[in-house]
Amino acid sequence: MKNGALRSRSGIAWLAILFAAVMPVGAHAQAEATTRASLLDFGSVHHPVVARNGMVASQEMRASRVGALILAQGGNAFDAAAATHFALAVSLPRAGPISGGGFMLLHSAEADETLAIDYKETAPAAAHADMFVREDGAVDRDALAFSRRGAGVPGLVAAIDLMLEKYGTMTMAEVIQPALEMARDGIVVTQSLADALSFAREALGAEPAAGEIFFRPDGSTLRAGDELVQRDLAWTLSEIAEHGADAFYRGSIAEKIVADMEARGGLITRDDLAAYRAIERDVLWHDYKGYRLALMPPPGSGGIHIAQMLNVMEHFPVEDLGPGSAAKTQIMVEAMRQAYADRSEYLGDPAFVDVPIEWLMGESYASEIAAAIEPGVARDSENISPGTLPVEEGDDTTHLTVMDKWGNVVSSTTSINFSFGSGIVIPGTGLLLNNVMGDFSASPGTPNAFGLIGGFANSIQPGKRPLSSMSPTIVFRDDTPYLATGSPGGSRIITSVLQVLSNVLDHGMNIQEATVEPRIHHQWLPDLVYVERGVSVDTKHLLRGMGYTLEEGGRTQGSLQSIMWIDGVFYGSSDPRRPGAGVAGY
Ligand code: DON
Repeated sequence: MKNGALRSRSGIAWLAILFAAVMPVGAHAQAEATTRASLLDFGSVHHPVVARNGMVASQEMRASRVGALILAQGGNAFDAAAATHFALAVSLPRAGPISGGGFMLLHSAEADETLAIDYKETAPAAAHADMFVREDGAVDRDALAFSRRGAGVPGLVAAIDLMLEKYGTMTMAEVIQPALEMARDGIVVTQSLADALSFAREALGAEPAAGEIFFRPDGSTLRAGDELVQRDLAWTLSEIAEHGADAFYRGSIAEKIVADMEARGGLITRDDLAAYRAIERDVLWHDYKGYRLALMPPPGSGGIHIAQMLNVMEHFPVEDLGPGSAAKTQIMVEAMRQAYADRSEYLGDPAFVDVPIEWLMGESYASEIAAAIEPGVARDSENISPGTLPVEEGDDTTHLTVMDKWGNVVSSTTSINFSFGSGIVIPGTGLLLNNVMGDFSASPGTPNAFGLIGGFANSIQPGKRPLSSMSPTIVFRDDTPYLATGSPGGSRIITSVLQVLSNVLDHGMNIQEATVEPRIHHQWLPDLVYVERGVSVDTKHLLRGMGYTLEEGGRTQGSLQSIMWIDGVFYGSSDPRRPGAGVAGY
């Protein structure tokens, strides 16, 4: 399908997509008498977007619409996910660039298989364990976050290539075309993009290349309503459209990346780029109350720990305790505390460390953990490191979920780590450099960029992939895709996904209610229960009485992009916590 076809059919498709995206659900319910009463009765305060033919949920509405347009043109979920990823690279530069990495879970209805693609970045060959440890023993956080040495070899383009080759029906050029036009012709800066740019002003202003794209002539960041044109990024996309992923890893784009690394102290070489592979991995399967969960294996940590925490929760009557109750919150906090302690010790890239997956996900270990939980009494996280700072999550990762009418599913979380990555743009490419090396433990026992403690298992080694919290998840019911979801949120990704799963699977909430419900987080160290605004005053009072220290008033936690498929109808939810997100159905 060439661009002309795309354009000529776009009028009707856009109307359909806009309808599904913006019509209040009440209108849908009237228009579509078949809408399921159980989800869309007037007993719910929050309602998902509804569509019948396919759906895309992402952090940026324009990107969701690009994906839905591909579906409307007959593309499948894999084509649509690829197009949405490329569009996010243009319209969500803080988190979506193709110079990042992440994880995808894919379900192909035709092949009847579910698999993971690990496209996490790799440490360059010249990286070494103490490369960010200063002479005084402290971790050089500036070098990690804002220098070229903090970058890993990007994985997203290789993953899209692999996904399209396995299951796609469209070419790389076809799925890139909408993004290429957005980059070349310009897009209007939204308020949320303007806010993000202004927040990252300092990092983006460190070198001229980023400022040329994101600043006004007077040196201030672009404002809402301005036009964002990304000519170099359009060139990069056109090279990939023409020459495939090879352009990025071995061709013209690789040349520019390597030239910049050589000139300005980066470690990524031609060989590092050429050696990069997106890896197909078996998903981890976990049964929970009649559902089958497909979860991300290592170097993801979310899959193992979501299963571990659900196992623990299954020992308690969480349905009866009720969502948001102090009693359920306590069970979750204690399960989280143990999971994050185990994460710090056992998890890492499986090519470098043996991860005891079966034990961690197993029932006997869950029984041990559950037995140690005394209702109404907080446990202690021992050995709290004095220098451990309360963690702020960033805005720098993003998730997209796509489902189509054939039953194909893509759930993909991608990241350049911090907001706008390192803030460094590789000249001539429009690519923001990731700072993923911050996911490693730069020095054993110290927190990584997201405050997560780690040891040898997650130390820096050449070619290694850093441990990640990204947790794309697909839930099956009766062997049919039922729910797919995922989130950004640094260390809080795992607990955010857990809570939305529990809200749907334990409490039967519709996906929008499940998403809106206030969240909590605990990560072993620091020994604090982070509570979102909206957690009830009574619950907080009871938790304090049990001995918990609460951290309140900070930022919201996570941004889940979820789709459910029930009896042939799609129900989508974009988390309202971060502005600009949207579901586009058709
Ligand atoms: O892979 C990880 O766990 C991190 N690179 C994720 C970073 C993240 O989610 C930041 N923000 N929202």
